[in-house]
Formats: sequence, C-alpha cells, structure tokens
Amino acid sequence: MPTDDIRQLLKATTERSLRYLSSLDGRRVSPAPQAVAALRGFDVPLQREPLPAEDVLQELDALGSPATMAMAGPRFFGFVIGASLPTALAANWLASAWDQNTGLYNSTPGTSHIEHVALKWLLDVLGLPPECAGAFVTGTTVAHITALAAARHAVLARAGWNVEADGLFGAPPITVITSAEAHPTLFKALGVVGLGRNRVVKIPTDGQGRARAELMPRIAGPTIVCLQAGNVNTGSFDPIAAIAPAARAAGAWVHVDGAFGLWARVAPSRAYLAEGVEIADSWATDAHKWLNVPYDSGIAFVRDGEALRKSMAISAEYLPTVTANRNPSDFTPELSRRARGVDVWAAMRALGRAGIEEMVERHCRQARTFAERLSAAGFEILNDVVLNQVLVSFGDADATRRVIAGIQEEGTCWAGETVWQGKTAMRISVISWATTDDDVERSVSAMVRVAEKVLGPRPSVIST
Ligand SMILES: Cc1ncc(COP(=O)(O)O)c(C=O)c1O
Repeated sequence: MPTDDIRQLLKATTERSLRYLSSLDGRRVSPAPQAVAALRGFDVPLQREPLPAEDVLQELDALGSPATMAMAGPRFFGFVIGASLPTALAANWLASAWDQNTGLYNSTPGTSHIEHVALKWLLDVLGLPPECAGAFVTGTTVAHITALAAARHAVLARAGWNVEADGLFGAPPITVITSAEAHPTLFKALGVVGLGRNRVVKIPTDGQGRARAELMPRIAGPTIVCLQAGNVNTGSFDPIAAIAPAARAAGAWVHVDGAFGLWARVAPSRAYLAEGVEIADSWATDAHKWLNVPYDSGIAFVRDGEALRKSMAISAEYLPTVTANRNPSDFTPELSRRARGVDVWAAMRALGRAGIEEMVERHCRQARTFAERLSAAGFEILNDVVLNQVLVSFGDADATRRVIAGIQEEGTCWAGETVWQGKTAMRISVISWATTDDDVERSVSAMVRVAEKVLGPRPSVIST
C-alpha cells in the first residue's frame, strides 16, 4: 500500500475513533438490541478478492461500533473495568505502529527498555521491594499463573526438586492455602500450574470476605499461601500483615491477588487497607483496571527474580538471548509478545504520582457517594464501602434482579449482578478515569428512578 494511502487510512481511522469516543457520553451504555442484531451483517463468507482498506474499516465501524458496550466511557460500573486514558490509548496506537515483538532486548531494545523503566516505576509507586522482577502479561489471571510458576519452582527447589526439568509427577506435594473468598481466576491459575483447583486448604472468611487470621492453618512442608488485596465484590482486604510474616517464617511462599486492590497503596486515605502487602513474595495486578490502560494488561511481580526467570526463560540457537539487559520474555509465559509496558509507561508518565493518587482517591469517594445516595433512597448497602466497590440490594433476589435488568436496559449506566454470601446484589465498581461526580449523580438518579418504576416508591422515601 503506498504511504499516502496508509496516511489516508490511518487519518480516517483516527476520525472514526474520535467519533466513537465522543459519542460515549450521549449514547446508552449497553448496545441497543438492534445493534446487536445487526452483527449478523458480519456473517458473510470470506470473499476471494481483496477489498479496499477504507471499505473494511467502514464495515467494521458501521456494524461493530454500535454493538460495543461503552466500557471506555464514564458510566460503565460493571465487573472491574478501567477505561483507557487518552495518553495510554495514543501510546498504544504508536506502539502498534512500531509492531515490536518485545521478547528479547537485543532485537527490541527500545520497547524492552521502556518496559524496564515502567516496571521500576510500578514497584516504586506500589511500594513493593525494588529488587522484584516483573512480567507484563495479559491480565491478573496470567499474572497469577506466572507468579505461581515461580512459587512452585522455589518451594520445590527448597525440597530438592527441579520442577521445570522433572514436572510434578513424583514431586513432594505442595500445600496451597487460600482465602475462602479468593477470586475464581486464582483457582484457575492453580489448575493451570498443576497445583489443582480443588486440593486447596481454605481459610474461612468474615462477613466482608476477609480471611480470618486466627483460623490460619499450621504450615508444614512446601506451601504456597494466597491472600487477597481487594475482594471483587466488597473491595475488602485479607489481613496480610497478620498472616504473611508467620507464613514466610514457616517457609511458605506468600502470593497476593491485588488485581485492583494493590492500587490502594497509592491513595493516602486507603493505603492502610493494604498494610503489610510488601511482605509477600509475589503479587498479581492489572494495569487495565485502576491504571486505565487499554485492554489487555496485567503485571506479575516476584521478589525472587531468579525463581521467576528459572521458570520462564528459554534459549535457542536462533534467538539472540545473551545480553546484560532485561529480556522481557525471560519473565513471561510468552516468547512473542506485545510491549504492554509501553501503555503502562505512558499512563504513569501522563498522570504522575499525583494523578494516580487523585484517580484512586476520587473513585473511592465516588463509591461512597453511590452508597450514601442509594442508602438515603431506601436501598440496602451490603458491604462496608472501604474501596471502590458497592453492593446494593433492592429487596429479595427477584426484585434485585428485575431492578438490575431495568437499569441495564434504561442505559444511563451499567452495573452487574452478583450473589454476596447468599444475597443477590447489584455490584457498582467505580474505576474509569472518565467518571465525574456528575456521572455519579446521573447514574444514582437513573438507578433510583428505575427501581421506583420496577418496585414502586420505597416506604422510607414516602415517609420522609
Ligand atoms: C480480585 C481479582 N482477581 C483476579 C481478577 C481477574 O483479572 P483478569 O480478568 O485481569 O485476569 C479480577 C477481575 O476482576 C479480580 O477482581
């Protein structure tokens, strides 16, 4: 394709992207049913001849854009989904143009070095040991897999077993201890690394989902203890400072799931929640959540970098692996990989420490506003709103489900459903850089309006 045509195509695509992003504030958050139905337009046999690039983008935009969920916008409160900071999005575009397969330093020194810097900044901002190794991966699920592979290596090496060479067959058994409310992706990761989803000893939890330190099992032999910084429903934290020191002293490896909660460390008013997190051996977090970089972007940090390197690094005659610098793929499950750390670098460079702190503090404050307003409107808040997560009940399971469906359908905002310790609830997760206080007010008003339409006026509201 001639350079002028490429220029024209990318300019037109920038315009399409801008049109899309600027439509988000005005459109409904979930895609209209007609837009989803129109996706059938994609169901055509692949034609034989090439098509002009602009026609391809026109088709993609016309059919694809309206069928998206407005996750990049300010009023999507489902799951735990950050949006994309403009600078991180722009850096992502530039890095896509570079198209660097950032496995090895020698072949991609630019992006490898940028990732190296981003990693150092992350350790600093999150208050983790500066000597940690790290891996930029797709998300917390793969960060768990990465960190648990290192954990498996280390606890078995101490027992005289080389797990990379000899596998797990015949290896000394590893005890895995997790909080009973650990995220399902942790169990998935345990299954992937051969430690089993079900052969886990669970620490009972309290009403907020925190592991009860006094019920921590006794540790003997090779052991991995997995704790949580930020429960996906309540936002609560396991008492890491109360569990981790004794667990490590007994020879266990302590891993922390901090998919979003690790970022409480940057917010002065919330840092107390994550007290003692730095004591652990490994951590998994996401940049696509609270750092608001484009999907997908997770990070594993491992204190014993050699354990991580030994579980991930490979060599081959054709690969220029020998270098005094950091080979990113020495620490990741992937060899070929996108330089995800570039987006992370750009987000951190743009926000600075103050910007990251402001964003996390703002979201926590906005979550409390949601809780206060909905509670004042007569609805029950099921969790202590310590972070950015709010659980709301609109009555029994059926009533709550009907209200959630109504809110999703009405379209001002989007929040999902969960069952928290037996009670059906709506989950609100405030985590988009773009969410303003006005978005919170608009969303609360829509929620209350829909709830009153579905359920009738609340008795507490009528009596005031
Ligand atoms: C506590 C926790 N752990 C793990 C995950 C999984 O993260 P990812 O979807 O990036 O793999 C999530 C996702 O919300 C989470 O909240």
